[in-house]
Amino acid sequence: MALLTFLSDLSRQFLPSFSNKTSLVTTYTRELPINLERMYENALDYEHLPFLHSSTFSKLEILDAGDWGWKAKACLQPKSVFNKMTLELKLDTEKNRWVTKTLSGLGKGTEVWTHAIPISENKIKVIVDFYVPKLPFFLRKKYTELYSDLYAQLYDEDLWMMSDRQKELDKLKKTDNLINEENKILGTLEEIKPQLPYNFEFNNKNYRLIELNNNLIAHSTICPHMLGPLNDADLNNGILECPWHGYKFDINTRKCISGQKCRMAPAPKIIIENKIISAIKN
Ligand code: FES
Ligand SMILES: [Fe+2]
Repeated sequence: MALLTFLSDLSRQFLPSFSNKTSLVTTYTRELPINLERMYENALDYEHLPFLHSSTFSKLEILDAGDWGWKAKACLQPKSVFNKMTLELKLDTEKNRWVTKTLSGLGKGTEVWTHAIPISENKIKVIVDFYVPKLPFFLRKKYTELYSDLYAQLYDEDLWMMSDRQKELDKLKKTDNLINEENKILGTLEEIKPQLPYNFEFNNKNYRLIELNNNLIAHSTICPHMLGPLNDADLNNGILECPWHGYKFDINTRKCISGQKCRMAPAPKIIIENKIISAIKN
């Protein structure tokens, strides 16, 4: 499949008989229940591509990045020499848009122009135009379907991240109904053990109780990077991986072990007395 797509794209790029024109292939539009700030943040956030969009991108190596946008070497799925490309995204907030260009590799010369129009405080409309140079008529339908399906999926995934992040940011601002518990009984060993990993709330924050080396231990379910959800995150030998950008954390030390400067929030201590499990303020 990767080879087929690669060959069709190669014919587009190199066969001389096609027009040199760059044409608008299709437009994808969608209303999103988020604000412009989240959307721009998402456009600049290259780190999420191989993690949140892991079924589309197999790899991303950043070459340059800033407030202006980013430039990176990327590889689509499946990982193969045929699926490599260099991408560049430039954000122009004055014009409410960003342009993603494929500078080399698969899809060379294509440009994706996205305009984000605010509809209300927490609602925007994105209008995404796909331009492809030298596109022969027999590939037009294929490219239209490919882009429409791909962007529907990418925006489903982005919406999950943007709206969950917004919810967590809103929670942080709320100071009413704050609870201050010193300890909380979670249940008996008999009740809780079959439910592990077990998610619970303590002092208005969410934690997950897990079993590690025959001990019960709790960890925060909010990633310290951009408030990603860790309540369902993959856990291997005490190492957690955040689904949004792939940062890895050691549950015991709370340290980020994938190289970034951040640390998980402390979690309550777990004690078991007379087969009753309690969370104690740390
Ligand atoms: S939110 Fe970015 S790695 Fe978790
Ligand atoms: Fe995305």
